[in-house]
Amino acid sequence: MSTARQQQTYLDYNATTPVDPGVESVMRQVMGNAFGNPSSSHWAGTPARAVVESARQQVADLLGCKPGEIVFTSGGSESNNHVLKGVFFTRQVPNAHIITTQVEHPAIIEPCRFLETLGAKITCLPVDATGRVDPDDLIQSITPDTILISIMHANNEVGTLQPIEECAQMAREHGIPFHTDAAQSVGKVPTRVDELGVDFLTIAGHKLYAPKGIGALYIREGIELESLIHGAGHELGRRAGTESALLTAALGEACELARDLSGMVRIRTLRDRLWTALKECCGDRIVLNGHPEERLPNTLNVSFLDLQGNELLAKLPNLAVSTGSACHEDRVEISPVLQAMGVSPEVGAGAVRFSLGRTTTAEEIDIAIESLTVLLAGYR
Ligand SMILES: Cc1ncc(COP(=O)(O)O)c(C=O)c1O
Repeated sequence: MSTARQQQTYLDYNATTPVDPGVESVMRQVMGNAFGNPSSSHWAGTPARAVVESARQQVADLLGCKPGEIVFTSGGSESNNHVLKGVFFTRQVPNAHIITTQVEHPAIIEPCRFLETLGAKITCLPVDATGRVDPDDLIQSITPDTILISIMHANNEVGTLQPIEECAQMAREHGIPFHTDAAQSVGKVPTRVDELGVDFLTIAGHKLYAPKGIGALYIREGIELESLIHGAGHELGRRAGTESALLTAALGEACELARDLSGMVRIRTLRDRLWTALKECCGDRIVLNGHPEERLPNTLNVSFLDLQGNELLAKLPNLAVSTGSACHEDRVEISPVLQAMGVSPEVGAGAVRFSLGRTTTAEEIDIAIESLTVLLAGYR
């Protein structure tokens, strides 16, 4: 019988983050003071416009770009759809070819599948056992028809960081625009667009201590990109829909807070403490999924050999973490990311993702360790 402590522990920050108290406080101020339509030129609209533009500046400051290069969206999925479909519809060439990877989030994979139905050719680059693409594979895949390369910055499941600078450099040498889905990396590792060398970059607010329903897309100045949502000329004609001063202010503040990455040292230390303790408990019956070093500092994805992640977690209802597999009636299906990394179905079935965040405490990590070691007593 488990005697583990019963306190609820949240270690699923890659799924979503709580709203930061600083962000919440900014939202309260905006709620009271800027209800107007940012497009209205009268006294009620101008404060709302000022809020939206100041938020745009904050997002731009985090990415090291101009505010005019930021378009507010509803989140990561919309930003990704905007780039993929926008480039496809802008170019309108026969045999349009898009290169991406096998480990992207469905918010990239599914729009690519959709574009395939419209005639696009899609190449999904393979990854190695740590989840990284080989830039040589990228070079080999480029054709005269390639209109876009989209490679995620950090993987949501295993945290592996891709060699974005190198890949973006190759894209530039071939005159091909380069997009990175940075939904998971913004606020965890540096994401300045000129250092990365990218032309488009996706931000998702709710992975960054802002609420759900807000995100942004960086579009390098001078690059033409068809709108995804047509309507009135909001966002300089790039994304129709009345801007929410409330949500943009939230994202702006979240980006302001995310400029200070010093807290990631503490998070990495806690994450590594969890890994060391699990390794001590499970010996060689636990393996790490993802790159040992080139990985988000908050993410630990492990496989408990001969166990099923969801069965294990069902016994720890107070621990909020994710598995790397889905249970169907007669079988366990491991995630496409683990499959692409060559993880076997048996090993993948035991995958569990722990992702830490700003509010994770040492005590919570100790509770997680205690709960798991009690449960796994005798497993080794
Ligand atoms: C890497 C990545 N891209 C895109 C998304 C989608 O973002 P949103 O939930 O804001 O649409 C997610 C969300 O899990 C993600 O992890």
